Amino acid sequence: MKKIEHHTSGLNGTINIPGDKSISHRTIMFGSMANGKTTVENFLPGEDCLSTINCFEKLGVQIEREGSIVTIYGKGLEGLKESSTLLDVGNSGTTARLMMGILSGLPFHSVLIGDESIAKRPMKRVTNPLRQMGARIQGNQDGNFTPISIQGGELSGIEYHSPVASAQVKSAILLAGLQAKGKTTVEEPFKSRDHTERMLKAFGVHLIEDGCKVSIEGHQKLTSDIHIVVPGDISSAAFFLVAGAVAPNSKVTVKRVGLNITRTGILDVLQGMGAEISYTNIVDDVPEPYADITVESSTLKAFEVSGDIIPRLIDEIPIIALMATQAEGTTVIKDAEELKVKETNRIDTVVNELTKLGANITATEDGMIIKGGTKLHGCELDSYGDHRIGMMAAVAGLVAKGETSIKNAEAIAVSYPTFFEDLESLLG
Ligand code: S3P
Repeated sequence: MKKIEHHTSGLNGTINIPGDKSISHRTIMFGSMANGKTTVENFLPGEDCLSTINCFEKLGVQIEREGSIVTIYGKGLEGLKESSTLLDVGNSGTTARLMMGILSGLPFHSVLIGDESIAKRPMKRVTNPLRQMGARIQGNQDGNFTPISIQGGELSGIEYHSPVASAQVKSAILLAGLQAKGKTTVEEPFKSRDHTERMLKAFGVHLIEDGCKVSIEGHQKLTSDIHIVVPGDISSAAFFLVAGAVAPNSKVTVKRVGLNITRTGILDVLQGMGAEISYTNIVDDVPEPYADITVESSTLKAFEVSGDIIPRLIDEIPIIALMATQAEGTTVIKDAEELKVKETNRIDTVVNELTKLGANITATEDGMIIKGGTKLHGCELDSYGDHRIGMMAAVAGLVAKGETSIKNAEAIAVSYPTFFEDLESLLG
């Protein structure tokens, strides 16, 4: 049980946020598929990304890690070998879904398993298009849930119109498409994060991008001997940016935060709600830009969060909901049904935990409505094993009167193992 005290003297200082989770996963996957050496700087040593390393080691890839520096010795797709044991993705949906795409094209059998939360997350969104490409996938409830068994083999390209804007779905299909006969196209209703596209291009793969549509020709090889610098994770930075905006007497700088436009919805919301935010040291790096971001205590007002911004901030909705409790007016979050299939049903878990703190928040079918300007009071909260709910609870604890305790706070290590150290350093 982690305890957090009401904090009135503000958060002050500068932190280096750990590497981006989505990008870190992809460095291991693509480095393992490439022929040669890939070096990675600022890799996120969170539990999810370590699960990805573990899975590729089981497939025969040599991977060395010293803290956040990783070296991957890829031997091409042909170098990946059948594992004699189960591939455990832990809590990581990205590992599960992207690996389904990769394994579908490889000429051997694999079984993916994960933790209790993974066992409840829908895989049909990936199983269905991969089956259309010729993949042989079995799993609980007709391939919807882990354990997932994949007999890899020959695939053919498809044109797929995804009903959801999901980078995990898009990436799984593109990674299968890379190994398929002919061309594969994925179209989504709104553009989801494009780290797969950016990194594949850095590995020399040719893609055609047109708005919400991406196409890939099959049988392309990933070139290697590249060095990738992973920017700080904006989804982790979001907790401290919001903490700095809502806590009085605060000024927080977060260094080298990834600024990929498909991820920066949280910055648009902070700005839209009136947060005092500024950018320095902007580096327009390829494949991913980044900058230092500073936020100060601000007077916040309500904002509507809906439509095409949702995929650009889907993981930040828990902390946006907390910010909305401290803003003037009513914030509406809608078009966010995807929250129901994250590590927990985040409509339920956000509304439950913020209600316990005294917030005026109502769940809707596709989001939530928050009447702001409420004083929160400390109480016992639960992460329910969801890292982002745990971090939302910690920031809420700083704002709430009295003491807040958080059950299952260790789940935070999934994406941010040093979260409490960074928080301590800002509390002074
Ligand atoms: C991720 C994509 C998002 C996000 C998840 C990481 C990725 O999921 O919520 O934390 O790395 O591709 P969806 O693609 O399901 O929206």
